[in-house]
Amino acid sequence: MGYPERQDSLPDFSTPLVHEDELPSHGDTVSTGSLPDVERVTTLIEAAHRRYRDLDEGKVADYIPSLGAADPALFGISVCGVAGLTTSVGDAQHRFSIQSVSKVFVFALVCHELGHANVSRLVGVNNTGLPFNSVMAVELADGDPRNPLVNAGALTTTGLVPGTTSAAKWKFIQDGLSRFAGHPLELDIDVYESEAATNQRNMAIARLLQSYGRMDFDPIKITDVYTKQCSLLVSAEDLAVMAATLGNGGVNPITRETVIDPSVCRDTLAVMATSGLYEFSGDWLFEVGMPAKSGVSGGIITVAPGKGGLGTFSPRLDPAGNSVRGQRAARFLSGALGLDIFASKPFEAEAAVH
Ligand code: DON
Repeated sequence: MGYPERQDSLPDFSTPLVHEDELPSHGDTVSTGSLPDVERVTTLIEAAHRRYRDLDEGKVADYIPSLGAADPALFGISVCGVAGLTTSVGDAQHRFSIQSVSKVFVFALVCHELGHANVSRLVGVNNTGLPFNSVMAVELADGDPRNPLVNAGALTTTGLVPGTTSAAKWKFIQDGLSRFAGHPLELDIDVYESEAATNQRNMAIARLLQSYGRMDFDPIKITDVYTKQCSLLVSAEDLAVMAATLGNGGVNPITRETVIDPSVCRDTLAVMATSGLYEFSGDWLFEVGMPAKSGVSGGIITVAPGKGGLGTFSPRLDPAGNSVRGQRAARFLSGALGLDIFASKPFEAEAAVH
Protein backbone atom coordinates (compact mmCIF):
# COMPACT_ATOMS: atom_id res chain seq x y z
CA MET A 1 0.00 0.00 0.00
CA GLY A 2 1.59 3.26 -1.10
CA TYR A 3 1.02 5.51 1.91
CA PRO A 4 4.27 7.48 1.58
CA GLU A 5 3.37 8.49 -1.99
CA ARG A 6 -0.07 9.79 -1.08
CA GLN A 7 0.82 11.29 2.27
CA ASP A 8 -0.01 14.90 1.42
CA SER A 9 -2.87 14.29 -0.96
CA LEU A 10 -6.44 15.18 -0.15
CA PRO A 11 -8.49 12.42 1.46
CA ASP A 12 -10.00 9.83 -0.87
CA PHE A 13 -13.62 9.38 0.21
CA SER A 14 -14.44 6.86 -2.49
CA THR A 15 -15.01 3.97 -0.07
CA PRO A 16 -18.04 4.73 2.09
CA LEU A 17 -17.97 2.91 5.41
CA VAL A 18 -21.55 1.80 5.19
CA HIS A 19 -23.36 0.76 2.05
CA GLU A 20 -27.01 1.59 1.84
CA ASP A 21 -28.20 -1.99 1.77
CA GLU A 22 -27.19 -2.67 5.28
CA LEU A 23 -28.49 -1.84 8.63
CA PRO A 24 -31.29 -0.50 10.80
CA SER A 25 -31.03 3.14 11.81
CA HIS A 26 -29.43 3.88 15.15
CA GLY A 27 -32.68 5.36 16.40
CA ASP A 28 -33.97 1.78 16.73
CA THR A 29 -31.17 0.71 19.01
CA VAL A 30 -30.40 3.31 21.65
CA SER A 31 -27.71 3.02 24.27
CA THR A 32 -29.13 1.18 27.29
CA GLY A 33 -26.60 1.83 30.07
CA SER A 34 -25.04 -1.63 30.07
CA LEU A 35 -24.00 -4.36 27.65
CA PRO A 36 -26.55 -7.10 26.95
CA ASP A 37 -25.76 -10.41 28.71
CA VAL A 38 -22.76 -12.37 27.46
CA GLU A 39 -24.88 -14.96 25.58
CA ARG A 40 -26.54 -12.19 23.58
CA VAL A 41 -23.19 -10.52 22.91
CA THR A 42 -21.79 -13.86 21.70
CA THR A 43 -24.75 -14.39 19.38
CA LEU A 44 -24.27 -10.92 17.92
CA ILE A 45 -20.49 -11.09 17.41
CA GLU A 46 -21.00 -14.45 15.68
CA ALA A 47 -23.60 -12.77 13.46
CA ALA A 48 -21.17 -9.93 12.69
CA HIS A 49 -18.45 -12.44 11.81
CA ARG A 50 -20.75 -14.41 9.50
CA ARG A 51 -21.99 -11.22 7.91
CA TYR A 52 -18.54 -9.88 6.94
CA ARG A 53 -16.18 -12.87 6.79
CA ASP A 54 -16.50 -13.13 2.99
CA LEU A 55 -15.96 -9.42 2.41
CA ASP A 56 -12.64 -9.06 0.59
CA GLU A 57 -12.50 -5.30 -0.02
CA GLY A 58 -9.31 -3.41 0.81
CA LYS A 59 -5.60 -4.14 0.72
CA VAL A 60 -3.09 -5.45 3.23
CA ALA A 61 -0.48 -2.78 4.15
CA ASP A 62 2.96 -3.57 2.77
CA TYR A 63 4.82 -0.28 3.13
CA ILE A 64 6.31 -1.96 6.22
CA PRO A 65 7.54 -5.06 4.35
CA SER A 66 6.80 -7.67 7.02
CA LEU A 67 3.16 -6.53 7.33
CA GLY A 68 2.65 -7.54 3.68
CA ALA A 69 2.99 -11.19 4.71
CA ALA A 70 -0.25 -11.10 6.78
CA ASP A 71 -2.95 -13.60 5.81
CA PRO A 72 -5.80 -11.41 4.46
CA ALA A 73 -8.39 -14.03 5.45
CA LEU A 74 -7.79 -13.59 9.19
CA PHE A 75 -10.78 -12.09 10.99
CA GLY A 76 -11.34 -11.94 14.74
CA ILE A 77 -13.81 -10.10 16.96
CA SER A 78 -13.76 -9.86 20.75
CA VAL A 79 -15.84 -7.98 23.30
CA CYS A 80 -14.87 -7.39 26.93
CA GLY A 81 -17.40 -5.93 29.36
CA VAL A 82 -16.53 -3.73 32.35
CA ALA A 83 -17.48 -6.62 34.66
CA GLY A 84 -14.68 -8.67 33.07
CA LEU A 85 -16.67 -11.06 30.86
CA THR A 86 -15.01 -11.59 27.48
CA THR A 87 -16.40 -13.32 24.42
CA SER A 88 -14.72 -13.84 21.06
CA VAL A 89 -15.20 -15.27 17.59
CA GLY A 90 -12.88 -16.19 14.69
CA ASP A 91 -9.17 -15.42 14.83
CA ALA A 92 -9.42 -13.43 18.06
CA GLN A 93 -6.32 -15.09 19.57
CA HIS A 94 -4.12 -14.50 16.51
CA ARG A 95 -1.27 -12.13 17.43
CA PHE A 96 -0.26 -9.18 15.28
CA SER A 97 1.71 -5.96 15.83
CA ILE A 98 -0.41 -3.28 17.47
CA GLN A 99 0.84 -0.45 15.20
CA SER A 100 -1.07 2.83 15.56
CA VAL A 101 -3.46 1.50 18.17
CA SER A 102 -0.47 1.90 20.55
CA LYS A 103 -0.73 5.68 20.11
CA VAL A 104 -3.88 5.80 22.23
CA PHE A 105 -2.32 4.02 25.17
CA VAL A 106 0.97 5.90 25.10
CA PHE A 107 -1.04 9.13 24.98
CA ALA A 108 -3.15 7.99 27.94
CA LEU A 109 -0.05 7.14 29.98
CA VAL A 110 1.59 10.48 29.13
CA CYS A 111 -1.65 12.36 29.84
CA HIS A 112 -1.75 10.61 33.23
CA GLU A 113 1.80 11.86 33.93
CA LEU A 114 1.58 15.41 32.51
CA GLY A 115 -2.10 16.30 32.83
CA HIS A 116 -4.88 17.55 30.59
CA ALA A 117 -3.63 21.10 30.00
CA ASN A 118 -0.05 20.10 29.23
CA VAL A 119 -0.90 17.46 26.62
CA SER A 120 -3.35 19.85 24.99
CA ARG A 121 -0.60 22.49 24.78
CA LEU A 122 2.34 20.23 23.88
CA VAL A 123 0.66 17.73 21.54
CA GLY A 124 -2.77 19.09 20.57
CA VAL A 125 -6.17 17.45 20.18
CA ASN A 126 -7.46 18.42 16.73
CA ASN A 127 -7.81 16.40 13.56
CA THR A 128 -5.29 17.25 10.84
CA GLY A 129 -7.61 16.09 8.02
CA LEU A 130 -4.50 14.64 6.38
CA PRO A 131 -3.04 11.12 6.25
CA PHE A 132 -1.31 9.74 9.33
CA ASN A 133 2.23 10.14 7.98
CA SER A 134 1.81 13.63 6.53
CA VAL A 135 4.82 15.95 6.62
CA MET A 136 2.72 18.76 5.14
CA ALA A 137 0.39 18.68 8.17
CA VAL A 138 3.33 19.64 10.39
CA GLU A 139 4.43 22.39 8.02
CA LEU A 140 0.93 23.82 7.62
CA ALA A 141 0.61 23.98 11.42
CA ASP A 142 3.99 25.70 11.97
CA GLY A 143 5.35 22.63 13.70
CA ASP A 144 2.30 21.95 15.87
CA PRO A 145 1.88 18.14 15.89
CA ARG A 146 -1.92 18.66 16.20
CA ASN A 147 -2.92 15.38 17.85
CA PRO A 148 -1.36 12.26 19.35
CA LEU A 149 -2.99 9.81 16.91
CA VAL A 150 -1.06 10.83 13.78
CA ASN A 151 2.62 10.01 13.47
CA ALA A 152 3.86 13.55 14.24
CA GLY A 153 1.80 13.73 17.43
CA ALA A 154 2.64 10.17 18.41
CA LEU A 155 6.37 10.85 18.03
CA THR A 156 5.91 13.99 20.14
CA THR A 157 4.02 11.98 22.77
CA THR A 158 6.68 9.28 22.87
CA GLY A 159 9.23 12.08 23.35
CA LEU A 160 7.26 13.18 26.44
CA VAL A 161 7.30 9.72 28.04
CA PRO A 162 9.08 9.83 31.43
CA GLY A 163 12.72 8.71 31.42
CA THR A 164 16.06 10.19 30.50
CA THR A 165 17.15 7.28 28.27
CA SER A 166 15.55 5.39 25.39
CA ALA A 167 15.65 2.24 27.51
CA ALA A 168 13.73 3.91 30.35
CA LYS A 169 11.11 5.29 27.96
CA TRP A 170 10.71 1.93 26.26
CA LYS A 171 10.30 0.14 29.61
CA PHE A 172 7.64 2.67 30.68
CA ILE A 173 5.72 2.07 27.45
CA GLN A 174 6.01 -1.71 27.41
CA ASP A 175 5.01 -1.96 31.10
CA GLY A 176 2.16 0.51 30.65
CA LEU A 177 0.64 -1.16 27.59
CA SER A 178 1.00 -4.54 29.30
CA ARG A 179 -1.05 -3.22 32.24
CA PHE A 180 -3.79 -2.19 29.81
CA ALA A 181 -3.73 -5.72 28.33
CA GLY A 182 -3.44 -7.45 31.72
CA HIS A 183 -0.36 -9.49 30.80
CA PRO A 184 3.20 -8.83 29.49
CA LEU A 185 3.20 -7.79 25.83
CA GLU A 186 6.13 -8.98 23.69
CA LEU A 187 7.94 -7.29 20.85
CA ASP A 188 7.59 -8.74 17.34
CA ILE A 189 11.27 -8.59 16.35
CA ASP A 190 10.59 -9.19 12.63
CA VAL A 191 8.08 -6.34 12.40
CA TYR A 192 10.33 -4.06 14.46
CA GLU A 193 13.38 -4.73 12.27
CA SER A 194 11.35 -4.43 9.07
CA GLU A 195 9.91 -1.05 10.11
CA ALA A 196 13.23 0.18 11.55
CA ALA A 197 14.85 -0.45 8.15
CA THR A 198 12.16 1.51 6.29
CA ASN A 199 11.00 4.29 8.63
CA GLN A 200 12.94 7.18 7.09
CA ARG A 201 9.75 9.24 6.81
CA ASN A 202 9.08 8.96 10.55
CA MET A 203 12.69 9.91 11.28
CA ALA A 204 12.21 12.93 9.01
CA ILE A 205 9.00 13.92 10.83
CA ALA A 206 10.78 13.63 14.19
CA ARG A 207 13.66 15.79 12.90
CA LEU A 208 11.18 18.32 11.53
CA LEU A 209 9.48 18.50 14.94
CA GLN A 210 12.91 19.04 16.51
CA SER A 211 13.54 21.93 14.08
CA TYR A 212 10.35 23.56 15.39
CA GLY A 213 11.47 23.08 19.01
CA ARG A 214 8.87 20.35 19.60
CA MET A 215 11.26 17.48 20.32
CA ASP A 216 13.65 17.74 23.24
CA PHE A 217 14.91 14.15 23.07
CA ASP A 218 17.06 12.75 20.23
CA PRO A 219 14.58 12.41 17.31
CA ILE A 220 16.19 9.28 15.89
CA LYS A 221 16.10 7.53 19.26
CA ILE A 222 12.47 8.60 19.75
CA THR A 223 11.58 7.18 16.33
CA ASP A 224 13.17 3.91 17.41
CA VAL A 225 11.14 3.77 20.66
CA TYR A 226 7.99 4.64 18.67
CA THR A 227 8.78 1.85 16.18
CA LYS A 228 9.11 -0.59 19.07
CA GLN A 229 5.80 0.49 20.62
CA CYS A 230 4.13 -0.15 17.24
CA SER A 231 5.69 -3.64 17.12
CA LEU A 232 4.18 -4.95 20.37
CA LEU A 233 2.19 -8.11 19.78
CA VAL A 234 -1.52 -8.18 20.66
CA SER A 235 -4.60 -10.18 19.72
CA ALA A 236 -8.17 -8.96 19.15
CA GLU A 237 -8.88 -10.31 22.64
CA ASP A 238 -6.09 -8.16 24.08
CA LEU A 239 -7.48 -5.16 22.22
CA ALA A 240 -10.93 -5.77 23.70
CA VAL A 241 -9.49 -5.79 27.24
CA MET A 242 -7.38 -2.69 26.52
CA ALA A 243 -10.42 -0.91 25.09
CA ALA A 244 -12.56 -2.03 28.02
CA THR A 245 -9.98 -0.52 30.41
CA LEU A 246 -10.55 2.82 28.66
CA GLY A 247 -14.30 2.24 28.97
CA ASN A 248 -14.00 1.42 32.68
CA GLY A 249 -12.46 4.57 34.12
CA GLY A 250 -8.92 3.23 33.68
CA VAL A 251 -9.35 0.00 35.69
CA ASN A 252 -8.52 -3.19 33.81
CA PRO A 253 -11.73 -5.28 34.07
CA ILE A 254 -9.80 -8.57 34.18
CA THR A 255 -6.93 -7.80 36.58
CA ARG A 256 -8.81 -4.99 38.41
CA GLU A 257 -5.59 -2.97 38.33
CA THR A 258 -5.93 0.82 38.08
CA VAL A 259 -3.89 1.79 35.00
CA ILE A 260 -4.89 5.47 34.59
CA ASP A 261 -7.30 7.93 36.20
CA PRO A 262 -10.93 8.21 35.02
CA SER A 263 -10.32 11.78 33.84
CA VAL A 264 -7.46 10.58 31.63
CA CYS A 265 -9.76 7.93 30.12
CA ARG A 266 -12.23 10.65 29.33
CA ASP A 267 -9.56 12.82 27.68
CA THR A 268 -8.24 9.88 25.67
CA LEU A 269 -11.70 8.92 24.41
CA ALA A 270 -12.32 12.52 23.34
CA VAL A 271 -9.19 12.51 21.18
CA MET A 272 -10.11 9.10 19.73
CA ALA A 273 -13.50 10.51 18.74
CA THR A 274 -11.90 13.37 16.80
CA SER A 275 -9.09 11.47 15.12
CA GLY A 276 -9.18 7.69 15.65
CA LEU A 277 -9.74 6.76 12.01
CA TYR A 278 -7.68 9.49 10.38
CA GLU A 279 -9.35 11.20 7.42
CA PHE A 280 -12.40 8.95 7.91
CA SER A 281 -12.91 9.88 11.57
CA GLY A 282 -16.03 11.88 10.70
CA ASP A 283 -17.53 9.04 8.66
CA TRP A 284 -16.77 6.68 11.52
CA LEU A 285 -18.40 8.83 14.19
CA PHE A 286 -21.39 9.44 11.96
CA GLU A 287 -21.88 5.72 11.30
CA VAL A 288 -20.66 4.03 14.51
CA GLY A 289 -20.99 6.75 17.15
CA MET A 290 -18.17 5.58 19.42
CA PRO A 291 -14.54 6.53 20.10
CA ALA A 292 -12.10 4.21 18.32
CA LYS A 293 -8.58 3.79 16.97
CA SER A 294 -7.25 1.77 14.05
CA GLY A 295 -3.81 0.52 13.05
CA VAL A 296 -2.30 -0.53 9.72
CA SER A 297 -1.83 -4.16 10.73
CA GLY A 298 -5.65 -4.43 10.84
CA GLY A 299 -6.59 -3.90 14.47
CA ILE A 300 -9.32 -1.54 15.70
CA ILE A 301 -10.33 -0.75 19.28
CA THR A 302 -13.80 0.68 19.86
CA VAL A 303 -14.86 1.87 23.31
CA ALA A 304 -18.32 1.92 24.86
CA PRO A 305 -17.80 4.23 27.88
CA GLY A 306 -19.12 2.60 31.06
CA LYS A 307 -19.89 -0.65 29.24
CA GLY A 308 -16.82 -2.22 27.68
CA GLY A 309 -14.58 -2.52 24.66
CA LEU A 310 -14.53 -4.13 21.24
CA GLY A 311 -11.35 -5.42 19.59
CA THR A 312 -11.32 -6.47 15.95
CA PHE A 313 -8.62 -7.77 13.65
CA SER A 314 -8.71 -8.11 9.88
CA PRO A 315 -5.72 -7.02 7.76
CA ARG A 316 -7.38 -5.61 4.64
CA LEU A 317 -7.49 -1.80 4.84
CA ASP A 318 -9.37 1.11 3.31
CA PRO A 319 -7.46 3.98 1.61
CA ALA A 320 -6.84 5.74 4.94
CA GLY A 321 -5.34 2.62 6.59
CA ASN A 322 -8.37 1.36 8.55
CA SER A 323 -9.47 -2.30 8.57
CA VAL A 324 -12.48 -2.71 6.28
CA ARG A 325 -14.10 -5.71 7.98
CA GLY A 326 -13.31 -4.28 11.43
CA GLN A 327 -15.19 -1.10 10.59
CA ARG A 328 -18.18 -2.99 9.26
CA ALA A 329 -18.32 -5.29 12.27
CA ALA A 330 -18.15 -2.32 14.63
CA ARG A 331 -20.93 -0.54 12.76
CA PHE A 332 -23.12 -3.62 13.00
CA LEU A 333 -22.37 -4.19 16.69
CA SER A 334 -22.77 -0.54 17.66
CA GLY A 335 -26.38 -0.76 16.50
CA ALA A 336 -27.11 -4.35 17.55
CA LEU A 337 -25.62 -3.98 21.05
CA GLY A 338 -27.03 -0.47 21.59
CA LEU A 339 -23.64 1.22 22.04
CA ASP A 340 -23.86 4.41 19.97
CA ILE A 341 -23.19 7.26 22.42
CA PHE A 342 -25.26 9.70 20.35
CA ALA A 343 -28.46 7.64 20.14
CA SER A 344 -31.43 8.43 22.41
CA LYS A 345 -35.19 8.03 22.55
CA PRO A 346 -37.67 10.76 23.52
CA PHE A 347 -38.52 10.96 27.24
CA GLU A 348 -41.78 9.18 28.14
CA ALA A 349 -43.41 11.00 31.06
CA GLU A 350 -45.81 8.16 32.04
CA ALA A 351 -42.95 5.63 32.23
CA ALA A 352 -40.82 7.84 34.48
CA VAL A 353 -40.57 7.33 38.25
CA HIS A 354 -39.59 10.97 38.84
O1 DON B 1 4.45 4.67 11.79
C1 DON B 1 3.87 3.88 11.05
O2 DON B 1 3.73 4.09 9.86
C2 DON B 1 3.34 2.60 11.66
N1 DON B 1 4.19 2.12 12.69
C3 DON B 1 1.96 2.81 12.24
C4 DON B 1 0.97 3.40 11.28
C5 DON B 1 -0.44 3.06 11.55
O3 DON B 1 -0.79 2.05 12.13
C6 DON B 1 -1.41 3.97 10.97
N2 DON B 1 -2.72 3.38 11.05
N3 DON B 1 -3.65 3.32 10.43
